Amino acid sequence: AKESFVRKPGDPLRVWAHRGGSSAAPENTAASDEVARRGRAEWIENDVQPTKDGVPIILHDDTVDRTTDGTGAVRNLTFAQIAGLDAGSWFAPAFTGQRVPTLGQQLDGLKTRGGNLLLEVKGSHTRESVARIVTEIRDRGMTSRVFVQSFEPQHLRWMHELAPELPIGLLRSTLDPDPVAIAKDLGLSAYNPSDAAFQTRPGIVAELHAQGVAVNVWTVDDATRWNSLEKAGVDGIITNRPAELYGWNSAF
Ligand code: G3P
Ligand code: CA
Repeated sequence: AKESFVRKPGDPLRVWAHRGGSSAAPENTAASDEVARRGRAEWIENDVQPTKDGVPIILHDDTVDRTTDGTGAVRNLTFAQIAGLDAGSWFAPAFTGQRVPTLGQQLDGLKTRGGNLLLEVKGSHTRESVARIVTEIRDRGMTSRVFVQSFEPQHLRWMHELAPELPIGLLRSTLDPDPVAIAKDLGLSAYNPSDAAFQTRPGIVAELHAQGVAVNVWTVDDATRWNSLEKAGVDGIITNRPAELYGWNSAF
């Protein structure tokens, strides 16, 4: 059986560092990984999408405009074109020279320095681009240290077919009428709603836990909400403030 991501009584909330330590360093870069690591986050969330030539890269938006000094849609740019871009100076001059990582570089970094990866299969993918992600993970022996999530059920279906050993989670910004049914259908280890969606029906925790499915809520940076979510029994929180959540978690 796959590892359960349901929190045991007395355990702290699982901390998932959204785009790395993205409140203090440029998101989805080696620098934001470092911030997350210093904050003792065991899990770093990154977004992965394919370049024009099929290289899986770590980038959130469907264009490079906001988070690099370049312009254009990821699907129209080759990896060679993206590799030369600066992914740090938009955030602050001290981060000039940060690059858009490939998934492979990201996995290598985690393997060397420690940590696990919550990998969001983002944007447009094909079965082939999902298969390439699986190859990158397997080639490095990292399957036990990666959790895959997506808003897109089809991406999770491909992932489950290609790599049944990887735990998968469904992202949602509104709740499904029957989260348990979709969890069973897709073989989910976690159901990951936005905080706003979660608040419409906190009772889904008990329903999903009864099936062994964890609930992780995003993206929550406020200690008042951490407190409410902990009481509601959720398993983890995806946050831009991993160090603060870690400290809050350990302080009782
Ligand atoms: O992990 C949840 C969150 O990452 C989903 O939204 O837009 O930040 O990728 P987004
Ligand atoms: Ca994401």
